[in-house]
Amino acid sequence: MSVGPSRIAEGGRPIAGKAAYVLLHNTSEVVTPDPEGQAVLRHPRGAIVFQDGRVLEIGPAAELSRRHPEARPLNAHGRLVTPGLVDCHTHMIFSGHRAAEFARRLAGESYAEIAASGGGIRTTVTATRNEHPDTLEKVLANRLERWRANGCTTVEVKSGYGLLPNEEVRLLELMRGARQRVPVRVHPTALLLHAVPEEYRDRRDALIDEMCEQVLPVLKMRELATAVDVFCDEIAFSVDECRRLLTHARGMGFGVKVHADQLSHSGGARLAAELGAGSADHLESADASDWEALAHAGTVGVLLPAAALTLGQTLPDAEMIRRSGARFAIATDFNPGSAPAQSLLECAALAARVCRFRADEILLAITWNAAKALGAEKEVGHLNPGAWGDAVAWECESLEELPYWMPAVRPDCVFMRGADLALPTVERRVWP
Ligand code: NIG
Ligand code: FE
Repeated sequence: MSVGPSRIAEGGRPIAGKAAYVLLHNTSEVVTPDPEGQAVLRHPRGAIVFQDGRVLEIGPAAELSRRHPEARPLNAHGRLVTPGLVDCHTHMIFSGHRAAEFARRLAGESYAEIAASGGGIRTTVTATRNEHPDTLEKVLANRLERWRANGCTTVEVKSGYGLLPNEEVRLLELMRGARQRVPVRVHPTALLLHAVPEEYRDRRDALIDEMCEQVLPVLKMRELATAVDVFCDEIAFSVDECRRLLTHARGMGFGVKVHADQLSHSGGARLAAELGAGSADHLESADASDWEALAHAGTVGVLLPAAALTLGQTLPDAEMIRRSGARFAIATDFNPGSAPAQSLLECAALAARVCRFRADEILLAITWNAAKALGAEKEVGHLNPGAWGDAVAWECESLEELPYWMPAVRPDCVFMRGADLALPTVERRVWP
């Protein structure tokens, strides 16, 4: 089930100045998914008119400037314009890093072995619990601004490094604080079953009961999350445990999603399809029949190339996904363990090479399909009339260049609601 556009996700900070009526022109091309996300439309030397924060029209520049003489012209300097990117899977509220574990993995230890020795997710849980809340909030806001500087105007953020019921609520509250500091649209997700907290080691059912009966009602009442996520894996939670929480969450009107078939083929994708989840994410151990099940359910399969490469796992071949008929998105999975990846476009450029995706498939995967995974495809992920005026003018000229350059192409301008907002200057100096 997907959630409708939410006021939670609309970007906290109002944009100053009078309502924008802008004609973005002198592009090399404007490229956008069509309204149904079936195909990518290309408008050579195209233009866009933004009004009151939304797209009013898209089409040939000559025609649009004739029809909108009052609009304030904005020069794209011959650059490629796309919708703002959508990163539909991140864990960006955490403290510390795990570079030492990364070194252990490169030396031969597996992710599961490190987790079993007390490291992994628990290392970050301890660091996050010990961090000052103001710092967690501020670091998250800074990360969101970094994502915007990298072309992402909509970002999903999961909790998940609290583990205990109260700690997860606390992280979602801090997320709300960070959301209010930045213009990025944030989709907050409650990742409520990530690892079993020590306190519940022998009471796993009690943990799920508390999440269902105490945490979900609080999240609903305080509008702290739009979706609920779980880690369905041999080293985390079983299909039955995940089903119990997600069925409850779905019944309360939350979107649901699953970390599925990552380390083992444990049935997460099938569960996501059974529940009509917005997305099934990871899928490194999924097979063709899992992808067919996702296609049948209309659930988006989310590929996380940084996690697959960091953990030495394989990514699926483009042809197998095409044959399944499923939609796929690409996301960073940004987290300190499996995916310290801070550029969505960089992740997409890697996936293009490894899986052999075309440039138009890549664009869909980081715009419309990613928005669909969040239930937000009516509002973001494309530049058709009525959508939010979130767009990027890139430092390149053609769609084919987007997955081509490494490091990834930089944005020249990032528009939110039709406004060319300044990018954080520190980002422009140091990243990448
Ligand atoms: O999406 N797989 C579960 N969760 C994260 C990793 C979390 C961590 O290692 O800290 C992921 O890869
Ligand atoms: Fe993840």
